[in-house]
Amino acid sequence: MESPIDSGVVLITGASSGIGRAVAHEVARRARALVLVARRKDRLDALRAELAAARPELTVLVFGCDVTDRAAVDALLRAVAAEVGQVDVLVNNAGFGDVGVFDLSEWSRTEQMIALNVTSLAYFTHRLVVPMVSRGRGAIANVSSGFGLTFGPGMASYIGTKHFVTSFTEALRIDLAGTGVRVTQVCPGPVQTEFNEVAGNFTGLEPPALLSISPERCARSLVRAVDRGRALVVPGLVAWFVVYLGVLCPRWLLRLAYWPIARALRKKQLAVRGAPAPP
Ligand SMILES: NC(=O)c1ccc[n+]([C@@H]2O[C@H](COP(=O)([O-])OP(=O)(O)OC[C@H]3O[C@@H](n4cnc5c(N)ncnc54)[C@H](OP(=O)(O)O)[C@@H]3O)[C@@H](O)[C@H]2O)c1
Repeated sequence: MESPIDSGVVLITGASSGIGRAVAHEVARRARALVLVARRKDRLDALRAELAAARPELTVLVFGCDVTDRAAVDALLRAVAAEVGQVDVLVNNAGFGDVGVFDLSEWSRTEQMIALNVTSLAYFTHRLVVPMVSRGRGAIANVSSGFGLTFGPGMASYIGTKHFVTSFTEALRIDLAGTGVRVTQVCPGPVQTEFNEVAGNFTGLEPPALLSISPERCARSLVRAVDRGRALVVPGLVAWFVVYLGVLCPRWLLRLAYWPIARALRKKQLAVRGAPAPP
């Protein structure tokens, strides 16, 4: 069966950098139209110019939009329908993390993260999946995380949001069985993007190079997963191994292993804040 990417309308949230930007490049030679969404419109404009130069017949719409703003998303979807018609492929990619133990994190940031990683993803899906089901064609591709399958220290809210994405996507795939709409997710380990910087990683530690993959590699995996109708992919061989090691490892062993890491993280976080370390 033909992939909905071919000659389709592909909407990508978080297209101004990292994985979303790489997905835009990856699908640009096959789609009829791309809809690029993120807050930094200058970056989207630059990306549109690049894509249009490479393939002038491609229609590229850009929307500088905070996707947690419901009214702005509704206006955006009306404009998309008027300009290019129905969306064939939704790539729910916009998201961010927040490094630190939960009790020392800022509530406002946690709330924004849940609004973006969870609510906005579910809202886009609900708005766009209804016409897909009526047409019997389309795809939802969600960018979750290896943390959607396991857990670890110092990112409780982020990990919670990605568990929502992973379970939601699996369950949605079952709900949409037989409708002609594909549902897939990519659960990457570390990807070399702006993610770490945005997550406020104060530890000074970077993910091991062996484990990290490029956003282009991640984007290729996502596109291949949509083409093949795969349910879930973890891109990168080493990341795949580490993620599934975490999944298969007994939970009590993971808790034991993560305990000292979380304590060290708390000390470091308090030191960075200039507060006294716990005994
Ligand atoms: N990098 C990793 O190690 C890694 C690993 C696993 C999963 N992921 C997931 O991959 C996805 C993409 O992240 P990335 O690694 O590519 O990070 P990134 O380079 O920071 O990209 C995040 C994208 O989300 C957009 N965004 C953030 N808040 C937004 C908002 N309120 N409204 C609209 N767009 C918003 C950003 O654009 P603006 O700032 O211009 O709005 C940017 O385009 C995320 O869901 C992340 O959780 C990343």
